[in-house]
Amino acid sequence: MMHPFDLTGKSAIVTGGSGGIGFEIARALAAQGADVALLDKRTECLEARAEEIRSMGSKALSVKCDVTDEEEVRAAVNRVIDSFSKIDILVNNAGVAGAGSVDQVEESAWDAVVDPNLKGIYLMSKYVVKHMKERKYGKIINMASVCGLVGSKAIPLHAYAASKGAVVQLTRAMGASFAQDGITVNAIGPSLFRTDMTEAALFKDDFLNLYNELCPAGRPGNPEELHGAALYFASEASSYTTGQTLFVDGGWSAV
Ligand SMILES: NC(=O)c1ccc[n+]([C@@H]2O[C@H](COP(=O)([O-])OP(=O)(O)OC[C@H]3O[C@@H](n4cnc5c(N)ncnc54)[C@H](O)[C@@H]3O)[C@@H](O)[C@H]2O)c1
Repeated sequence: MMHPFDLTGKSAIVTGGSGGIGFEIARALAAQGADVALLDKRTECLEARAEEIRSMGSKALSVKCDVTDEEEVRAAVNRVIDSFSKIDILVNNAGVAGAGSVDQVEESAWDAVVDPNLKGIYLMSKYVVKHMKERKYGKIINMASVCGLVGSKAIPLHAYAASKGAVVQLTRAMGASFAQDGITVNAIGPSLFRTDMTEAALFKDDFLNLYNELCPAGRPGNPEELHGAALYFASEASSYTTGQTLFVDGGWSAV
């Protein structure tokens, strides 16, 4: 009997697949048998990442795609369908962080954060949902953040928080709309995990000490600690769960 997290025969797209969390989720999906297309606008180590997925026994594609560029998104989605013949799982993970308060941040800096984090999910979903509706099957996972739920006294992250709050609500709205199309839409809301995004700015003694003091778990998360949430939402284990955001945050949002 298949176990509920089994992904044998499934094919997935992970956007931002070259980054810390994206690649970690791609590895989790491949370990359960899924083929994975890694999409990213950064190409330096994209093919090497794909090769690592292949070494796990899955098929993998590396596709250059800026999720804010509709033409690149359309072409990338078509390429994945041509190669894998279908898309079962879409992980809308690509994103950027940016500090700044509304009274200081320039419009261009605001758009540089909100566009990849929010419009990127819209554009990817625009092309993938059509395909999933035709097949009456799909698992969509959006990447939110605890910043989409609560503010921060330590650092003003206004554009980032607004974009991630919108991801939480877009996830509810999409989940409600597509429930009868066989498509579930859920989100993961991490707190602090060490990746390129956070390494330089946040893994410094003063911020880390503050974080550890405030976080019930007393430490940041390890990227592998996102595997469980990703596999739950990507698999049949979540067949009756949609519109939800699971905060994987060491208890940050519980206090
Ligand atoms: N690391 C954390 O602590 C943390 C916490 C909460 C949420 N998140 C979210 O997790 C996701 C992944 O972040 P990460 O920590 O792995 O960061 P990361 O910088 O390691 O990875 C992000 C990836 O997204 C890609 N990307 C950015 N803009 C893109 C675009 N327009 N088109 C295509 N790809 C693009 C980058 O090139 C990069 O490879 C983001 O959405 C982020 O907001 C991270």
